[in-house]
Amino acid sequence: MDFVRVADLTTIPSGSARAVMAGRYEVALFNVDGVYYALENVCPHQGGPLADGWLENLTVTCPWHAWCFDLRTGNLTLGAFAAVPRFEVRVEQDGVYLSTEPVAQ
Ligand code: FES
Repeated sequence: MDFVRVADLTTIPSGSARAVMAGRYEVALFNVDGVYYALENVCPHQGGPLADGWLENLTVTCPWHAWCFDLRTGNLTLGAFAAVPRFEVRVEQDGVYLSTEPVAQ
């Protein structure tokens, strides 16, 4: 699996997110207490940008219609009928790297 550097370690403060490009995907990169999680920045409902959503603990709420997703799995928290593709994260001394393809669900 290929990885690409997407952010400096100081770019995304804890408790926030940012949209970045990983290969051909736009990815929402979240920082929760220094641990990074990455989901495709496209809500499976109608395409809302998850990086602009509300972050609470390990859940992001889509800013368009409030579907909620677990950052660890990409799964919808209300039921197993929708999920967001998840990307592998590696933190190195010079920044945050993401896989350029989603992790198999
Ligand atoms: S687009 Fe995300 S909940 Fe509708």
